[in-house]
Amino acid sequence: MGLGMKTALAVIGLAALMGSTALAASLPTVGPIPLPAEMQIGQGSFTLPAGAIITVPAGDAQARFAASQLVDFVQRVRGVSLSVREGQGDAAVTLALAPDAPVDEAEGYVLDVAPSGIRVTARDEAGLYYGAMTVAQLLTPEGGQGDVTVPVQQIRDWPRFPWRGMMLDVARHFQPMDSVKALVDEMAAHKLNRLHLHLSDDQGWRLEIKHYPDLTRIGAWRTPPAADGKPVPERYGGFYTQDQIRDLVAYAAARHITVVPEIDMPGHAQAVMASYPKIGVTGARPKVAVDWGVNPYLYNVNEANFTFIQTVLDEVMALFPSTYIHVGGDEALKDEWKQSPKVQARMRELGLKDENALQSWFIERVGRYLADHGRRMIGWDEILEGGIPSTATIMSWRGTKGAVDAARLDHDVILSPAPTLYLDSLQSRRNDEPSGRLAIVSLADIYAYDAMPVGVDAAQAHHVLGAQGNLFTEYMMTPWHVTHAAFPRIDALAEGLWSPKDKRDWIGFLTRLPAQMARYRQLGVEAADSAFAVDFHIEDGANAALAAGSATLTLSNQANFGTIRYTTDGSAPTTASPRYEMPLSLPLPATIQAAVFSDAGLPLAAPRTYDLTPDALRTRQSGELIACPQGEMGLRIPLRADADKTAPVYNVNLFDACWVYPKARMDGVTSLTVRAARLARNYGLAHDAAKVRSHPATTPNGELVVRLDSCDGPVAATVPLPSPKTAPLQFPLTAALPAASGEHDICLMYTAPITGPLYAIGSVGLGLGH
Ligand code: ACM
Repeated sequence: MGLGMKTALAVIGLAALMGSTALAASLPTVGPIPLPAEMQIGQGSFTLPAGAIITVPAGDAQARFAASQLVDFVQRVRGVSLSVREGQGDAAVTLALAPDAPVDEAEGYVLDVAPSGIRVTARDEAGLYYGAMTVAQLLTPEGGQGDVTVPVQQIRDWPRFPWRGMMLDVARHFQPMDSVKALVDEMAAHKLNRLHLHLSDDQGWRLEIKHYPDLTRIGAWRTPPAADGKPVPERYGGFYTQDQIRDLVAYAAARHITVVPEIDMPGHAQAVMASYPKIGVTGARPKVAVDWGVNPYLYNVNEANFTFIQTVLDEVMALFPSTYIHVGGDEALKDEWKQSPKVQARMRELGLKDENALQSWFIERVGRYLADHGRRMIGWDEILEGGIPSTATIMSWRGTKGAVDAARLDHDVILSPAPTLYLDSLQSRRNDEPSGRLAIVSLADIYAYDAMPVGVDAAQAHHVLGAQGNLFTEYMMTPWHVTHAAFPRIDALAEGLWSPKDKRDWIGFLTRLPAQMARYRQLGVEAADSAFAVDFHIEDGANAALAAGSATLTLSNQANFGTIRYTTDGSAPTTASPRYEMPLSLPLPATIQAAVFSDAGLPLAAPRTYDLTPDALRTRQSGELIACPQGEMGLRIPLRADADKTAPVYNVNLFDACWVYPKARMDGVTSLTVRAARLARNYGLAHDAAKVRSHPATTPNGELVVRLDSCDGPVAATVPLPSPKTAPLQFPLTAALPAASGEHDICLMYTAPITGPLYAIGSVGLGLGH
């Protein structure tokens, strides 16, 4: 997505979740994720014998594959070996397709656990597969390896929505095929069934097209900006060959996942114009974009352009059997169409009233081509703006209005509204959160999300196919970042899309999650622990603690779940460490470590350390500063474009390099030290560029300007910035401050030219005189 979405709506209320706790007692607190539609626990249990067998019907290759997936999962998570046999007979687990299985919903299954074994029946192969995935969870309950006992129970299960998806943006940061397949594996285990691949954008084209080899020879590679200080920037990119795509499509299909390709048009297409300039409006050849956001290049609207698109789509359709083909349509800035006499003449010739109508005509023409080939077109909700193309299914990302409008007009819709289902949104306000958008979308927020939009009535509800979580990767540079963003929020998403609405229960979900987090550890999935990690809070604030020489500390976590255990002797907390029960009173200086465990004693969050030293109490990290009121565009971005998970990250406001350290205690303070950083300024702000606030500089490289109490008041200190040519990317800036006492806001702003690098603050610490 572009950069213009307001983040003010970022904090999503938890109020919707209140009241769910009252239901907890009457709903299952053990069991699979997503929670089955119907589940009844009986008397007794089944114990998995050594050398257990799974039987599948003779000749049913798909059932055999489902069984092999179950074997693999249980081996990797539990260390227990099962084997698969075709035919009938005694078995620990039986998987069988049965035309009369007592569940007639598509993708549904019935699962019986008796003391003698587990039996799954389904009317279709997808249902049988999902039954096997549920068995996989029953055989890997929370904790430990080896023997497993499963309570006697009966499950009848089927999905609430047919479209249960994830979108992966492989254009902004190329994702290696192994990582894509790892996501497919986890989607299948979560009963998700649509992988939307965002294959093209301004910053890269990722799909081999035989007819147009330059799309990948040129369009798959970009040269990131040199503000990272490297003398010769290296090119970045990658693409998938057609063989790799065929392999992925088959890999996903075996797991009942359809891969839905997206070729974005008429905007987000700079990599196309870099490869084949004639496809663009101006005929000029840009470089593959390095600017995030919205870039100006648009497809032309002439016949040569449609020949190109249709030829590309012919190859896309040959590779992807998906009925749905996504053609983008988002954020197409119309300036180039407005400025081109030829495009304007064509628009008039077609009798179209404006450029939005021209976009609808363009998309409709592409949609008809797809329809003529037995396919259906999906577009982002902007394609509604010029009148909805008759063939379109709408993917609603700018809130839910697009979905409501389109469903009322009898079109199918898929929900993926920003920021809630944009998984590049940060999941907590913690200082250790990696890069992303500064909207906070917690695990609870995703859990509270209901894919049936308010405003769609019962008669139109069948048009709501479902929803998907979007993994846009501008700020997720590596597969590690993507994994951190996706897990465990994918669990909340999957439950929302699969389980009946009236069965949803946040507390029950949390109770089932520790087993899932343990599975992730066994499988090597580096899931985020943001919802469970300990947050430290000083009652009365850091200033009062500094004045008193001691702190009263409360420990909590975002999900308000699990047992917190802590140490103050420098050792890592274990299940034997003291349990946090009430606020702790600690004389300064102190260092506390705390970790979170489930009821069964399994780790839910890694230990976090909190320094209660006077220096630490006088220091604020990047994320603890307040963006100045003029700004709105919040991102958390890494030091370098090629950052890994250890890279420092900075909260920035693209419109104003200005922050406030609120209520600093100034008694005895004589200086402040900023850990400054110089980042690439590579953002396509389009028309919003006019909003960027420049502060006049008085020296060539600009300065850090410090004011007390207000950002308009008298200057307390000015520190010149070092030359970008010689200074490292991170550097300290120290300013002497006039004597003051009591609490004051400290306003910090950079006056560097807005055409140069983007300066950021890693932390601000206050120094005492002697
Ligand atoms: C989008 O985020 N531009 C779909």
